[in-house]
Amino acid sequence: MVMKHNFKGIVVDLKEFAPKVVKRVNSFMENYLNSLDNAAPNLKAAMSYGLLLGGKRARPLLVYATGKAFGQSDDKLDYAAAAIECVHAYSLIHDDMPEMDNDKLRRGHETVHVKFSQTQALLAGDALQTLAFEILSDQNSQLSDKTVATLTRILATKAGYSGMCGGQAIDLDSEGKHIPLESLKLLHSKKTGALIRAAVLMGAYASERATSEEIAILDEYATKVGLAFQVWDDVLDVIGDTKVMGKTQGADISLDKSTYPSLMGIEKAQQYAKDCAKEAIEVVSKLNADTSLLEQFALFTVTRDH
Ligand code: IPE
Ligand code: IPE
Ligand code: MG
Ligand code: MG
Ligand code: MG
Repeated sequence: MVMKHNFKGIVVDLKEFAPKVVKRVNSFMENYLNSLDNAAPNLKAAMSYGLLLGGKRARPLLVYATGKAFGQSDDKLDYAAAAIECVHAYSLIHDDMPEMDNDKLRRGHETVHVKFSQTQALLAGDALQTLAFEILSDQNSQLSDKTVATLTRILATKAGYSGMCGGQAIDLDSEGKHIPLESLKLLHSKKTGALIRAAVLMGAYASERATSEEIAILDEYATKVGLAFQVWDDVLDVIGDTKVMGKTQGADISLDKSTYPSLMGIEKAQQYAKDCAKEAIEVVSKLNADTSLLEQFALFTVTRDH
């Protein structure tokens, strides 16, 4: 892969950038949670557990990497980065509940409903979802009202019926069935692709600089990366290690989920994910900006072990 240089001539390495993102967004989110009152301490503890205990912070990373490519400061990207991670954390808490995937292990720890209760897990998910929009609309972000309205609409649309929630519904409806490949692609583009697209689009709009042509290219990149990300998640369910992933290997197989490995076999699924990532890299490298982090992220999605 050709690595581009940033404007100061230093190669931005994802291996150095990623831990900085984790630290930055975690401390931002922790401060935000700490600023809430203590009237419902069990709920607050469940939210904190589901939000702060582990996780790659892939979506915040995309917000910062995209915003940075268009010259935006981290300070103005923190709000969008934290907001999308709150929506993601809520989606995982609910995804793990008995009504959905019934998982006991997440990020190397007991799932929220096991550690707390189903009631607290339900509420923690609900409250993290609304916290996302509380953070996004915080005027301290110093973003213009128009930008905040755009970011709000992107996150709401991509998280809801037309995006993640719709995808989760199709996922559950597809258990135990042999669905066509095109339906599986739609399922993946909604349940996971939508939030990945939201992350990139939010980074672009929060830069307050990207043009509509640039945003169209970024959206194409994110659509391909989002698909690659979920196909590889399916692959890891087959070949991954429970200890490394922090979630139970074989969970999809036990539930007879519709996944790429179940539909096309493990080798073809791996190749398909890699092809999607390669296409994403080709698309994003067309931009006249430092896209090295976005290119490296695409590669990471299909080489990761967790
Ligand atoms: C897992 O997401 C669920 C999917 C949408 C594939 P991640 O792989 O980003 O999980 P964390 O946040 O790193 O735990
Ligand atoms: C979940 O997909 C996507 C979400 C919207 C949370 P999975 O059910 O495959 O995610 P994991 O494998 O449990 O992390
Ligand atoms: Mg699921
Ligand atoms: Mg799951
Ligand atoms: Mg999975």
